[in-house]
Amino acid sequence: MCGIVGYVGNREAVPLLIEGLHRLEYRGYDSAGLAIIGPQGIICEKVVGKVAVLEETIKSEDFRGHMGIAHTRWATHGEPNLENAHPHLDCKGEIAVVHNGIVENYVALREFLKRQGHTLTTQTDTEVLAHLIESNYKGDLLEAVRLALVQVQGTYGLAVISKHHPDQIVVARNGSPLVIGKGIGEHFVGSDVAAIRRHTSQVVYLEDGEVASVMADDIKVQTIDKVAVTPEVEEITGDLGIIEKDGFSHFMLKEIFEQPITLRNTLRGRLDYENGTARLDGLTNYEHKLRNAERIVITACGTSWHSALIGEYLLEEFARVPVEVEYASEFRYRSPVVDDRTVVLVISQSGETADTLAAMREAKRRGAIALGICNVVGSSIARETDAGVYIHAGPEIGVASTKAFTSQTMVLAMITLLLGRMRTLSVAEGREMVEAILKVPEQVGLILKNEDQIKEIAAQYAKSNNFLYLGRGYNFPVALEGALKLKEISYVHAEGYPAAEMKHGPIALIDENMPVVFIATRDSVYEKVLNNIEEVRARRGKVIVIATQGDERIKEKADHIIYIPQTMEFLSPLLTVIPLQLLAYHIAVLRGCAIDQPRNLAKSVTVE
Ligand code: AGP
Repeated sequence: MCGIVGYVGNREAVPLLIEGLHRLEYRGYDSAGLAIIGPQGIICEKVVGKVAVLEETIKSEDFRGHMGIAHTRWATHGEPNLENAHPHLDCKGEIAVVHNGIVENYVALREFLKRQGHTLTTQTDTEVLAHLIESNYKGDLLEAVRLALVQVQGTYGLAVISKHHPDQIVVARNGSPLVIGKGIGEHFVGSDVAAIRRHTSQVVYLEDGEVASVMADDIKVQTIDKVAVTPEVEEITGDLGIIEKDGFSHFMLKEIFEQPITLRNTLRGRLDYENGTARLDGLTNYEHKLRNAERIVITACGTSWHSALIGEYLLEEFARVPVEVEYASEFRYRSPVVDDRTVVLVISQSGETADTLAAMREAKRRGAIALGICNVVGSSIARETDAGVYIHAGPEIGVASTKAFTSQTMVLAMITLLLGRMRTLSVAEGREMVEAILKVPEQVGLILKNEDQIKEIAAQYAKSNNFLYLGRGYNFPVALEGALKLKEISYVHAEGYPAAEMKHGPIALIDENMPVVFIATRDSVYEKVLNNIEEVRARRGKVIVIATQGDERIKEKADHIIYIPQTMEFLSPLLTVIPLQLLAYHIAVLRGCAIDQPRNLAKSVTVE
């Protein structure tokens, strides 16, 4: 999704801006641009396509200056072409704006500005911001931005420069993250810590409804209502060096292979064998609320929503608490029955997904306790939830989420253990679960050793245009996740279903050209899934099965079998998903797809 970088200080701005843009490339984008203030005023360059193209283009120009702003755009309003790329300028070319988010009332504002005599030339919503700032400008850039934003409905993270203020960047935030990085005699701005982390670890997170003036040696923050705010400087941890591919062809593959380590990091120090429970420091003050909750609602989007579905199975089975799972985009706009006896679990890798953030705020508005399960430290959801648990999976760069899914699921298993022990489980049951959980990272490692076999299966089906994924119980959400992975990165149509639901419609699709991926592990629904496999075989569908090591019986029913180690049923999604991640990856490679930045997708979906 769109990304913002800015710099003001003594160094040459352009290399810093370009480097920041490269760091944001993982978010997904379709065009890029930057603006600096040179001796004659604002110089702006934009390209359709990659940051590398922008870098090449400006090499030949005289792009020199000590401050500037830059942007990667992921099109929402207006197609991805040169004129719609950011920065956007006012009528005189004296003000430049980069913006993430959506100006919802842009049509009305556009008409208003046209009546005032402004000339608007693009299809974007952002362009109105440059002209609104121009129309409010009376010598004070911060005030002009503030007055413009009073007229704006919608979401924004934005950065603005003006020819008349060659030492100042004005930034603002409402629903789209904006962070200021503190240096010595210089400041950075970014929509994501990744853009500026290389240069500083001291940051000021802007809150919604705040605008700030950023100069080389000064930061002034105020609310949009003009109340001064003392900027709170936070220290961020985490090494940028680890955001490299480490010899893997793609970030996605690296992240798939990292899972034995990331799962260990998720578990580190959190299991208590003696008491057969989990210790989740982030939840300590809310344990009594969890124990007394009448209901738990879990809300999320995409892959995080799939982990939420597994959470529903887990919490209902072991903690005996009613759980509902809702798409965040639905939760936020219907009238959910949520009150102070409801705990709302909010799951998000990025912690910035606009729908999830809004759902969390809606839940809090209605009096619910909101607990977060996030990966990105300091993200909006992590900061705004009442409490929460970090999954500690480390930066996830591949747009297709893999290691975050397994770590989210692991955190849900630990919350289940904690709550289960408070409500229903005995110490012995808890200990048995702890023992099984501790084996998971190593078991994931064993599955990864089967990559070559999965590659061969991928080669046989890489040309198929449709796939069906079927599973039951804990592995129904895994079927959804397997199908989503394939769709996202290979652009192959894939559907996930509860296996028994197939006969209510999807069975019509099955013929000798339809590969059907079954998750048929030795568990409480094993026999039932075998029946569903027969239904596919009877129609000559091709059967690929994820099965439990040692299962001989399955051999006569499948065209291909990928074995996984034996585990307790509630942990099986953590293992069964691994071959599906690899299968999607290898099919996408064989189809020549852009694995880490699939078309049309963004890593962090910060617009609704
Ligand atoms: C996963 O592969 C996707 N790219 C996407 O569905 C993602 O899980 C979803 O957008 C939610 O993101 P979040 O976890 O950062 O909130």
